[in-house]
Amino acid sequence: MAGAACGLPAGTIGPLLSKDDASLVVWLSVGQSVVCGAWVAVCLLSVGVTATLVTPTSRTTKAMDRGPFWGLHRAVAFALGTSAKLQEGELVLDPFAGRGALLAALARRWPCRYLGFELDPARVAEAEVNLQAAELQELAVVRRGDARQLPLPDDSVDVVVSDLPFGRKHGSVEANRSLYPAALREVARVLHPGGRGVVATGDESAEILDSALSGADLCRVDTLSFAFGGKSDDAGCKAVCFAKGSGDRDLFDWSLAEAEVCQLTSGSC
Ligand SMILES: C[S@@+](CC[C@H](N)C(=O)[O-])C[C@H]1O[C@@H](n2cnc3c(N)ncnc32)[C@H](O)[C@@H]1O
Repeated sequence: MAGAACGLPAGTIGPLLSKDDASLVVWLSVGQSVVCGAWVAVCLLSVGVTATLVTPTSRTTKAMDRGPFWGLHRAVAFALGTSAKLQEGELVLDPFAGRGALLAALARRWPCRYLGFELDPARVAEAEVNLQAAELQELAVVRRGDARQLPLPDDSVDVVVSDLPFGRKHGSVEANRSLYPAALREVARVLHPGGRGVVATGDESAEILDSALSGADLCRVDTLSFAFGGKSDDAGCKAVCFAKGSGDRDLFDWSLAEAEVCQLTSGSC
């Protein structure tokens, strides 16, 4: 976001403020779109806007929050976990766990049990390091496994929360055409009846995800659109909320979709 777009003279934000100076990660809901990120925080705070929902962070906790190995941004993890309305003690599955950053971010906030599977053994090892560094290994574990063939019994999981390979940094949109249907069939098998999920993908794979959900007989309840800053992630993303069985909206927390919209120009909400 350029300075001018924030109501400041062009170029002022770059020299004055950097992402590392942000002390809040702000979620702003604009219609059906949710925007987050340190740059949004910087811009909003610069023009005196307060946002409806913020996730506190600080420079001192940032490095610790992130873990030794980089993964999904904790603000996006917060959005997925909030939308999934996680309840204490639930078993939460991430079938595409990567370096465990999503699971670690969820485990810090919601007292559930977390299980992840990851195909790449190097990432499994990195996830272990991340979870140990955060002292979360009692709550969360990542094992080597294939999302298309999960080593779990039928009806054994309460909630699925995951960011799928978008086809940007991981895999390809073409590969997602076969990966998503196979993985969502497994999700449908291991979720207990009435179980639910919130999964993220890029806009370019969203239709593939929708069709994989209906092919697996999972009910798509609603979809949140969001964007978060930085490089290829500037492109839009979707977080899809779904359920095994009838899709009751009350299974999910819609606060991110329903947050009050702030007027960027007037500075009042
Ligand atoms: C978007 S990344 C997940 C990042 C993760 N949420 C984190 O915070 O570290 C997707 C991951 O899915 C993994 N993956 C791809 N195909 C898979 C499969 N069939 N089964 C399990 N994992 C797979 C990739 O290796 C990659 O690490």
